[in-house]
Amino acid sequence: MEIRAFAEQIFYADTLEGKLENPAAALMRVPHGIPTLSDEQPGDAVEWQCPSRPPHLEIASKRQRKRLPHIESLRDPEMRVRTLHAFGNHELMALEMMAWALLAFPTAPRGFRMGLVRIILDEQEHTRLYVERVRAMGAEFGDFPLNDHFWRIAPQIKDPLTWVCAMHLTLEQANLDHAPYYERIFRGFDDHEAASLMQRIFADELMHVRFGGHWLRHYTPKGSSAFEHFLSHLPAYCTPTRARGFEFNEEGRRMAGLDDEFIRRMAEIDRQPAPDLVEQPTAPSQKPARPPDAPPLPRIKLDLLSSKP
Ligand SMILES: [Fe+2]
Ligand SMILES: [Fe+2]
Repeated sequence: MEIRAFAEQIFYADTLEGKLENPAAALMRVPHGIPTLSDEQPGDAVEWQCPSRPPHLEIASKRQRKRLPHIESLRDPEMRVRTLHAFGNHELMALEMMAWALLAFPTAPRGFRMGLVRIILDEQEHTRLYVERVRAMGAEFGDFPLNDHFWRIAPQIKDPLTWVCAMHLTLEQANLDHAPYYERIFRGFDDHEAASLMQRIFADELMHVRFGGHWLRHYTPKGSSAFEHFLSHLPAYCTPTRARGFEFNEEGRRMAGLDDEFIRRMAEIDRQPAPDLVEQPTAPSQKPARPPDAPPLPRIKLDLLSSKP
């Protein structure tokens, strides 16, 4: 199977099943998960356009969108299902954008394109896991309004380097903070299924950020700072504040292979999200008790996994 056909199938699918279907998976079940798709006809570069979605998964108007539930409200199962629903949409947007990146950058190095195919498999699985978890909690994916946070960055991504900086080293890097944070929050409310899901996603995210770090170094001139190169190639609406959460996970970044300077300078970045990208947290309808091991509440506005898949 050609990579282009694989990417088109996902990007242009107008059903969720189509986006999660993966005829390439069987081909890829080889030692170490190395993809075996062919890439002889990568085709012409495709400009960004909003991908097809089935009617129940279309992006809601701004007026219809719900705010991400406040941390303190997550004692309520309905608030947890809404949160997981939002995270599921982040995964779906990420995998659609990754499919687009394969269409947009046909001349990118083979390792870059094969690596993206591999990561898409993970994002499909993440989406599937969230959909299943939402269903297990009594709702369906599509029951709540969906936003287009990730897609808004896409038109500004022009080449593999800006792609890596925006997707893998911003949205996915932030998940190195968000996933463990939410794992602890969910566990504090005895939702061990959701906590385990966050744990699984964190483990995969390490590899996705590692991929980003590898290609950033590849595109950084010898002797130059990878972090400076990252900063200078972030597309509009993609500030470095979106690359971190409110609890900085230094160890996670080391595990993802980011270099010492990169980690130190990321830690120094003001964690306040960019004002135009912030979703205000939803005020809890009543003030619930906090989980026993809940960390201090962040004072910042929650952008959460809109800085993540
Ligand atoms: Fe990811
Ligand atoms: Fe993911």
